[in-house]
Amino acid sequence: MKNIVILISGGGSNMAAIVRASQQQDWAKRYNARVAAVISNKADAKGLVFARDNGIATEVLDHKQFDSREAFDAQLAQVIDRYEPALVVLAGFMRILTPGFVSRYEGRMVNIHPSLLPAFTGLHTHQRAIDAGCKFAGVTVHRVTAELDVGPILDQAVVPVLPGDTAEQLAARVLVQEHIIYPRAVLNLIKN
Ligand code: GAR
Repeated sequence: MKNIVILISGGGSNMAAIVRASQQQDWAKRYNARVAAVISNKADAKGLVFARDNGIATEVLDHKQFDSREAFDAQLAQVIDRYEPALVVLAGFMRILTPGFVSRYEGRMVNIHPSLLPAFTGLHTHQRAIDAGCKFAGVTVHRVTAELDVGPILDQAVVPVLPGDTAEQLAARVLVQEHIIYPRAVLNLIKN
């Protein structure tokens, strides 16, 4: 069985979209793949409830309990490795990763970023797109490499920026597309 481990920090709507796709498309039977675990660095991440309700193992590892980024990432890797993942999926996991952690999962870790990369790496992507006068914004699924938000692009979706858009309105429009392209990108990776 190819195990998918999903890392979240909050709402987990992308994680939920992947879980739903795996159920609806019967990834276990058709592709010998399953979402094996959902791991959060925040105990109150709403996504954990969805995961538990769907019979998926959950783990919480609070980064505040660790003295350094390296120590947290080392422990996180231990937890992830219990599930022997074929793919590690970052889904709103709001942590900067150490180079050692990234290299451990080289070639089998992906991220979703709410901008049309290479534009707007980092935070506040929607407000920055609005402030820059962009007519279009969007979302990117990419492989994770040592540099933040810069790995090879696997998939993108584009949405219009409408006159008077707030960052929240644009984010909601982008999120609809996230839920379409992330399950598709994950499936493409585990199929191949
Ligand atoms: C998503 O919009 C995702 O693209 C973004 O966080 C949100 C998480 O939502 N990720 C980043 O900003 C990564 N830098 P979710 O928890 O509902 O999936």
